[in-house]
Amino acid sequence: MYKSILKPLFFLKKPEEAHHFTVNLTKLTFNIPLVGGLVRSIFKVEDKRLEREVFGLKFKNPVGLAAGFDKDAKVIDEMAMLGFGFIEIGTLTPKPQEGNPKPRLFRLPEDESLINRMGFNNGGVEEAVKRLKTRQSSVLIGGNIGKNKVTPNENAVEDYLICLEALHEYVDYFVVNVSSPNTPNLRDLQEKEPLKKLLQAVKNANDLKSKPKPILLKIAPDLTNGQLDDIIEIVQDTKIDGVIATNTTIDRSQLSTSAATVEDIGAGGISGKVLGKRSTEVIRYLSEKSNKAFPIIGVGGIFSAEDAIEKLEAGASLIQVYSGMIYEGPGLIKKINQGLLAYFSS
Ligand code: FNR
Repeated sequence: MYKSILKPLFFLKKPEEAHHFTVNLTKLTFNIPLVGGLVRSIFKVEDKRLEREVFGLKFKNPVGLAAGFDKDAKVIDEMAMLGFGFIEIGTLTPKPQEGNPKPRLFRLPEDESLINRMGFNNGGVEEAVKRLKTRQSSVLIGGNIGKNKVTPNENAVEDYLICLEALHEYVDYFVVNVSSPNTPNLRDLQEKEPLKKLLQAVKNANDLKSKPKPILLKIAPDLTNGQLDDIIEIVQDTKIDGVIATNTTIDRSQLSTSAATVEDIGAGGISGKVLGKRSTEVIRYLSEKSNKAFPIIGVGGIFSAEDAIEKLEAGASLIQVYSGMIYEGPGLIKKINQGLLAYFSS
């Protein structure tokens, strides 16, 4: 039904409008008595074999919602009913910010991909905390944190610590995001020295808490093997808990969409089908080169159970989806979990 009816309707709208429309529609629909329970019963796949224990947390299944879809924690409970094993909110910054001027999200249907230059539009960490306090579902929540655009990189550590502090009681794990291509110079924080300093500061602040939370690093797919070697070293030196691979790419060489169309769109990070191969390569490289020293959450271009299995076989312990859900619909989560069960019993 999604691909034949809903998707063509959604795709008539501009991508960002379609996103807000979907979020609002989801909220409205789930407010109708019994709808939540009905949706849950349609989408739920529960099975012991899907359960995972990763960085000390117990996941009901390995399929998560990637950061950026529910930045402000507006639809956690609704997303949980679609069958996700975990939901990552954010990227959140200390202060609310508008993000880049619109339009800033574009579809590339020929490539089943998206280009976005949202620029961390979000309502700020405090507003998200207010929503987290009222959530109903017990689904595991990741808090993806970043810095405000106006904060210079020299002061970035402070922004990450503010977010860590505010969210600490309310999320199950943290993601230090230094890999968005849409905040000027953010990716410079992936360089060895600033990254080590940032992760050490976040880790130290976390360790002072009575219940420290797992800390993960989210990386770009555009890093060289040398830079990935540095990431392995830094993860091990700072003793953080894992890596999310990957964020969107700035590489446009894999696109079939005409160069003129892509040029007209302008700057942004690419997600979806074209990212799949590179993100799997990064996962495989990190897993093999580190001798599986830390867990990896695999994300990028997962549109089917086969894609998810490819990521797991490359070394991921868990996976996340975003663009796949836009192109395939919310039934994708169930399809992946059912596909995993079939794969386990084959
Ligand atoms: C993203 N992504 C993202 N990642 C992140 O760490 N913080 C963020 O705020 C966002 N925002 C965001 C907005 C939009 C519109 C998209 C499409 C993506 C990246 C996302 O979490 C994921 O890493 C990539 O999209 C790759 O996965 P998919 O989309 O190919 O499944």
